Amino acid sequence: MKKIAELYKGKAKSVYTTDDADKLVMVYRNDTSAFDGGKLAKLDRKGMINNKTNAFIMEKLAAAGIPTHMEQLISDTESLVKKLDMIPVECVVRNIAAGSICRRLGVTEGLDLSPPTFELFLKNDALHDPMINEYHIRSFGWATDAEVEQMKELTFRVNDVLKKLFADIGILLVDYKLEFGRYHGRIVLGDEFTADGCRLWDAQTRKKLDKDRFRQDLGGVVEAYEEVAQRLGVNLN
Ligand code: ADP
Ligand code: TMP
Ligand code: ASP
Repeated sequence: MKKIAELYKGKAKSVYTTDDADKLVMVYRNDTSAFDGGKLAKLDRKGMINNKTNAFIMEKLAAAGIPTHMEQLISDTESLVKKLDMIPVECVVRNIAAGSICRRLGVTEGLDLSPPTFELFLKNDALHDPMINEYHIRSFGWATDAEVEQMKELTFRVNDVLKKLFADIGILLVDYKLEFGRYHGRIVLGDEFTADGCRLWDAQTRKKLDKDRFRQDLGGVVEAYEEVAQRLGVNLN
């Protein structure tokens, strides 16, 4: 599949059109961003590790019956995906309190959230991805009620699959963000599932194995992403 034109350059990935109007090539770059572009760095090998980790996770989700945009890995840093009409809403599930919920609600990092909680954010860097609710989505027409219901249901189904997948390799799935889009009338999981968009802690030591290492200047960012990939059994060669 040949890349034709750059459709969109995001903070971490670039998206290209192809000769198939329904397919895009997604290129995972080494660029790393936090705080909505407020902190930027290039981390050697990150693009490759994320591309391959995402392909591995998306395959597990597809095997569990979750519709995803993933078609195939095409190189170390590129994947072929279905071209979705993206919904500008980020769906977050939290199993353990960390990050913005601690600041917003004054809870201590590490608190177990039982049952897990669900939050919606508007994908808008200039506004710092503000938290929104289902009424905002309805009033502004970002998605229909039926689409919101499907995104919520799929986001929780992802939790069932991935909490277990990570638990089996001694990792706690603390929280994660998913993005969905429309493909020929269906809601499909898009974007990525990697350590850039979730929180993963070692179950024994609670060592952070995700982008918080970058956000909090903890060092060993790529090493942590690589450890997650290796524990999952992702082939990085
Ligand atoms: P950001 O836009 O947040 O900086 P990235 O650097 O990851 O993020 O860029 C990837 C962009 O591609 C995002 O805007 C994302 O919403 C979009 N995207 C992800 N998957 C698809 C898809 N299957 N079809 C079309 N666009 C997609
Ligand atoms: P938060 O604690 O900053 O609200 O983020 C919750 C989880 O979702 C965390 O794993 C990071 C991820 N996330 C993103 O990757 N991008 C985003 O724009 C948002 C809002 C969250
Ligand atoms: N994913 C968002 C960004 O890259 C939020 C974050 O990671 O802090 O800006």
